[in-house]
Amino acid sequence: MTKDFLGKVALVTGAASGIGEAIAVQLADRGAKVIAADLNGDAAEKVAGAIKAKGAEAAALAVDVAKAEQVEMAVRFAVDTFGRLDLGVNNAGIGGAAAPLSDYTLDDWHKVIDVNLNAVFYCMKYEIAAMLKSGGGAIVNMASILGSVAFPNAPAYVTAKHGVVGMTKSAAVDYAKKGIRVTAVGPGFIDTPLLAALPAETMDYVKSLHPIGRMGTSEEVAALTLFLLSDAASNITGSYHLVDGGYVAL
Ligand code: NAI
Repeated sequence: MTKDFLGKVALVTGAASGIGEAIAVQLADRGAKVIAADLNGDAAEKVAGAIKAKGAEAAALAVDVAKAEQVEMAVRFAVDTFGRLDLGVNNAGIGGAAAPLSDYTLDDWHKVIDVNLNAVFYCMKYEIAAMLKSGGGAIVNMASILGSVAFPNAPAYVTAKHGVVGMTKSAAVDYAKKGIRVTAVGPGFIDTPLLAALPAETMDYVKSLHPIGRMGTSEEVAALTLFLLSDAASNITGSYHLVDGGYVAL
């Protein structure tokens, strides 16, 4: 395994499960020191423990990304623990309630917007401040195919993910000359616990929407994310990259 992230320090939110876990593991396998941050601190500890058991460096942190002061603390923890911050993967997210817009409760709306949109602002705000001190860095925001197309009964999720794509462009433009690249990833439906609530017939329907004939895996999303974080992507910033088995092309 190439250790092309050796010496880099990465903060991964939502690292206790699914896509975030795969990204944390792949980053550590390729030499990065990883902070696995998640609302579920125990599960984040398990991910960090598994990474350390393979001889890499990691630390876990319980954090609610919807709370700005906790995100600020998480970035400080990364710098205090490993001395700097080079990479940010703003991946924590929730599916939220399913209902058409007019039936969406205010509570459900705010919950999804807080975790899937406001939190990305908090993460980038504090990550960028830390990266400016260590001479630059790279950030990947986890959007979705629903950052560019809609899906029935998901007004808050679709809005939040479109917002993440816009926020990615905004930050990329502001920091391009300061050595910080910012990109967004748009996965199709990926087989993770996020989809656990979907009934079996919905899962079959969802699979049929992907020309490739299946849902994607967390490892496939992690592979794209690591490419965008790596020096191989040195001329890539402000862009949104699909990993969707052809979903949006259909
Ligand atoms: P998951 O449910 O397996 O993992 C999400 C993680 O985020 C969990 O460990 C959860 O504890 C954590 N989390 C939730 N709220 C949090 C909060 N307030 N603070 C800190 N951590 C919190 O889900 P999955 O599928 O790995 O999702 C990761 C990201 O990928 C999300 O942003 C999601 O919207 C996005 N995504 C997922 C797709 C899918 O089909 N699974 C498709 C497209 C995008």
